[in-house]
Amino acid sequence: MATEEHAIPRFPAGFLWGVSTSAHQIEGAADERERSVWDTFTAEPGRVKDGSTAAVACDHYHRYREDVALLAGLGVDAYRFSVSWPRVRSEGGLDFYDRLVDELVAAGVRPVPTLFHWDLPESLDWLERDTASRFAEYVSLVADRLGDRVDKWITLNEPAEHTLFGHALGAHAPGKQLMFDALPVAHHQLLGHGLAVQALRAAGATDIGIANSHGPTWPASREQPDLEAADFYDLLLNRLFADPLLLGEYPSGLGELMPGDVAADLKVISEPLDFYGVNYYSPTRVGAPQGEDIEFGGLTIPAELPFSVQEIEGVPVTDFGWPVVPEGLTELLTAFHERYGDRLPPVVITENGCSYTGVDDQDRITYLDRHIRALHKAVEAGVDVRGYFVWSLMDNFEWAEGYARRFGLVHVDFETLARTPKASYAWYRELLRAQR
Ligand code: NOJ
Repeated sequence: MATEEHAIPRFPAGFLWGVSTSAHQIEGAADERERSVWDTFTAEPGRVKDGSTAAVACDHYHRYREDVALLAGLGVDAYRFSVSWPRVRSEGGLDFYDRLVDELVAAGVRPVPTLFHWDLPESLDWLERDTASRFAEYVSLVADRLGDRVDKWITLNEPAEHTLFGHALGAHAPGKQLMFDALPVAHHQLLGHGLAVQALRAAGATDIGIANSHGPTWPASREQPDLEAADFYDLLLNRLFADPLLLGEYPSGLGELMPGDVAADLKVISEPLDFYGVNYYSPTRVGAPQGEDIEFGGLTIPAELPFSVQEIEGVPVTDFGWPVVPEGLTELLTAFHERYGDRLPPVVITENGCSYTGVDDQDRITYLDRHIRALHKAVEAGVDVRGYFVWSLMDNFEWAEGYARRFGLVHVDFETLARTPKASYAWYRELLRAQR
């Protein structure tokens, strides 16, 4: 029995059910656009575990009609995809998103574009302040073109991971290992977000949010060194991004390490949002540093960081080795509700999902079932949650892991590019029907 006997409780009226993807992970057609930092990164030997690139990926760029038909068959209210900035800078690039949005609207699926999901044009660099202004210019262009059919927008995806993996640890593009010197990358993305919110409002948008990854931090023990290490990890992954957006200030003096006129920038960064997107995967158990590099969930945590990431015992793990802890979602959302109070806009779960292989993916069904129930508990506890998006519609290019990690409701054969709905696709479709 993959799921509990009793039906998943009903979510509030108007709740938005969807699935998510991102441009670099599914589109392919890399030779029909400018290069991004990810093209350069994946071309370097050893960067991606299976040596693959996203040059073809799911070839969604050429097969988007088939993929929109899969979305329509699934019966989702909304589809979260990302717009590739390097593609928009290329001849005919914006035309693609125009066609995609038309196709979605015709199929009765609400388009929810993310404007930056890590595929920065190769010539740009988030270490430069100017990238924030360039981002807002690009956002204006997209909003002017799509704004007549798109009413829900997401500025950035997971600036925390883009800062940490891409610029501090070097596990993602652009592959920089700056450790704490990567902090300006966080600030410039946040500033870019604020400027993008202003640009979207100027173009008439009224439903704007961001997608941040968050998860509870669990101290490895009640001992002081573990508590301090966990607090520091929580600061970097959760508060560093949520506090400036929601409270208009950096936590614990971190603002002093940021470049530029930080006080003025924080006014822009904290532009009011219409919803707050949360990508949730799991909690992290954190303890004092152990004096050596640690391999964890596909990452190397260097010994010089002032914390270590440890295994959560007694819980199942996905094929990726990520712990399955649905209660962490309830805990996270109620903690956010408490910390940010009235400053927290309605929440949308912009990503939640798991990597498992196989088309008869009962493990994924169990995972989703348990997380959606945990989300409902947060609603019962008073958190205003307005939507839930599964990561992902289909198997795709999982960054430094290549194609080995499969997060899709739809299986993709990367030789033939054939799409095959998995058991979880049928399960999600039935859930959505029951919620109507
Ligand atoms: C977060 C990212 O936004 C997405 O690109 C990635 O594939 C999933 N998590 C799974 O790791």
